[in-house]
Amino acid sequence: MSALIVFFLISLYSPCIASLTFSVSEFGAVGDGIHYDTNPIQSAIDTCASAGGGRVIFPAGGDYLTGTLFLRSHVILEVEGGARILGGTREEDYPKESSRWYVVLAENATGVGITGGGEINGQSSAFVVRPDVRKNVMVSWNRTGACLGDECRPRLVGFLDSKEVRIWDITLNQPAYWCLHLVRCDDTKIHDIAIYGDFNTPNNDGIDIEDSNNTIITRCHIDTGDDAICPKSSMGSVYNLRVTDCWIRTKSSAIKLGSASWFDFKNFLFDNITIFESHRGLGMQIRDGGNVSDIIFSNIKISTRYYDPLWWGRAEPIYITTCPRDSTSKSGFISNILFENISAVSENGVFLSGSRNGILSNIKLKNVNITYKRWTKYPGGLYDYRPGCQDLVNHSTSGMMMEHIDGLDLENVNMKWFKSNVKEWIFPLQFKGANVNKLSFHDWNSEIINIIGGVLK
Ligand SMILES: *[C@@H]1O[C@H](CO)[C@@H](O)[C@H](O)[C@H]1NC(C)=O
Ligand SMILES: *[C@@H]1O[C@H](CO)[C@@H](O)[C@H](O)[C@H]1NC(C)=O
Ligand SMILES: *[C@@H]1O[C@H](CO)[C@@H](O)[C@H](O)[C@H]1NC(C)=O
Ligand SMILES: *[C@@H]1O[C@H](CO)[C@@H](O)[C@H](O)[C@H]1NC(C)=O
Ligand SMILES: *[C@@H]1O[C@H](CO)[C@@H](O)[C@H](O)[C@H]1NC(C)=O
Ligand SMILES: *[C@@H]1O[C@H](CO)[C@@H](O)[C@H](O)[C@H]1NC(C)=O
Ligand SMILES: *[C@@H]1O[C@H](CO)[C@@H](O)[C@H](O)[C@H]1NC(C)=O
Ligand SMILES: *[C@@H]1O[C@H](CO)[C@@H](O)[C@H](O)[C@H]1NC(C)=O
Repeated sequence: MSALIVFFLISLYSPCIASLTFSVSEFGAVGDGIHYDTNPIQSAIDTCASAGGGRVIFPAGGDYLTGTLFLRSHVILEVEGGARILGGTREEDYPKESSRWYVVLAENATGVGITGGGEINGQSSAFVVRPDVRKNVMVSWNRTGACLGDECRPRLVGFLDSKEVRIWDITLNQPAYWCLHLVRCDDTKIHDIAIYGDFNTPNNDGIDIEDSNNTIITRCHIDTGDDAICPKSSMGSVYNLRVTDCWIRTKSSAIKLGSASWFDFKNFLFDNITIFESHRGLGMQIRDGGNVSDIIFSNIKISTRYYDPLWWGRAEPIYITTCPRDSTSKSGFISNILFENISAVSENGVFLSGSRNGILSNIKLKNVNITYKRWTKYPGGLYDYRPGCQDLVNHSTSGMMMEHIDGLDLENVNMKWFKSNVKEWIFPLQFKGANVNKLSFHDWNSEIINIIGGVLK
């Protein structure tokens, strides 16, 4: 590659051309994975920031054990290939406030990032109290009252109130809790990253995009137990999210909007994504009155299957729901949603469920192939409205279940059923209750495939 091209790539992907470099070894980090390197690393970061910014290098071969590292504006962490940042596993390794429990944390930072080809590792196995193939039982740091409930564990990487965030060429491995968390960020670019969470560990979400705008994620590989890409609106809306060229496997939802959904989700594109053997494919759980609009899902291959019901998901390839979480919640609307060029093999049907005051409108499926078959032994036959709403409802499975929809356009949609091994199934299409209006079908096909000896076990 010519120097000129390298120059352009660097200027494209990093907010500043970080000419100054600071090696954590020069600041006394030992990188033996036993002694804490928190102070030397933090000194390197702070010195780099005082010098106006640059790169903090973690030399190859080291395992840098650390408590929370505070990233400063214009500092890029460069964890070299073969180097690892290891998150501490003691509560005292993290700040007092549980909202700041991250291994790497940027607060109010501009022009910050992580790269280098190496790894940041949250050592999640140290947080397992009892391993369980169904779902691990995890530690909860809730004794001091700094955090309440059973989900008190540190996240791996967090950018809060930050701008010009760049994360590329890095592996985020074994988070104890959520992996990569963006909160109230603007202008984030994430590319060429891998995220691996233990498949039996709960709450190890891949990327949570909370109250943040202008986020671009491309070329990501996410293999984890909990939701893989999860926009949430808790204190503000989420605008302009683009996720392309990704591969995902999860025991929960591959893509999920919500369930924290107090504000709007608008203008998202999900394109060229493979979702492999996940518990749910393209999902929306709108529960708190925020509205969703202008979302495109295109060129997506999906396989969805059942896993242990301790995990959320019921093998729906597409799961769009909006209902008030509880009697005090408002309803959110979902409108202008396009699914184009989607192929799915799944153990359950498509679920499109609005509610009385939260109508789904202008939903279009174009060039969609869905093959229904069963290959696990988990029971089916439930509509899943959780969290809140009608909870779980016993019901035969249909190819597409629809309620409270105003404007549904199916164009070139092909449904194939391996009928004899999906015994609990009833109709290809099912409209439930009232409020189903403006339906349009062009080139809609549904057929039963008989099992020819040897095709399916
Ligand atoms: C960022 O700065 C603002 C203004 O000072 C402050 O209100 C906010 O709490 C800061 N965010 C974080 C994560 O520290
Ligand atoms: C603390 O965590 C444990 C284990 O998850 C849980 O059973 C308990 O209810 C939690 N207690 C508090 C006060 O949050
Ligand atoms: C995101 O954009 C919305 C709409 O313009 C705005 O209200 C919100 O403050 C923005 N959030 C951030 C973190 O910039
Ligand atoms: C789709 O994404 C994959 C990576 O998951 C990539 O290899 C492929 O080139 C992309 N295809 C297109 C058409 O961009
Ligand atoms: C959602 O849209 C409805 C109808 O336009 C509106 O009344 C409501 O305020 C919107 N919700 C939010 C959180 O903006
Ligand atoms: C759907 O199946 C048809 C027939 O096999 C195929 O030509 C078409 O490319 C498929 N569409 C998608 C989006 O996979
Ligand atoms: C869907 O696939 C068709 C045929 O391959 C292609 O012409 C069209 O551009 C694709 N649509 C999108 C949104 O990528
Ligand atoms: C569904 O039906 C089964 C068997 O009839 C019953 O045990 C179960 O409690 C029902 N579940 C719900 C959510 O109603």
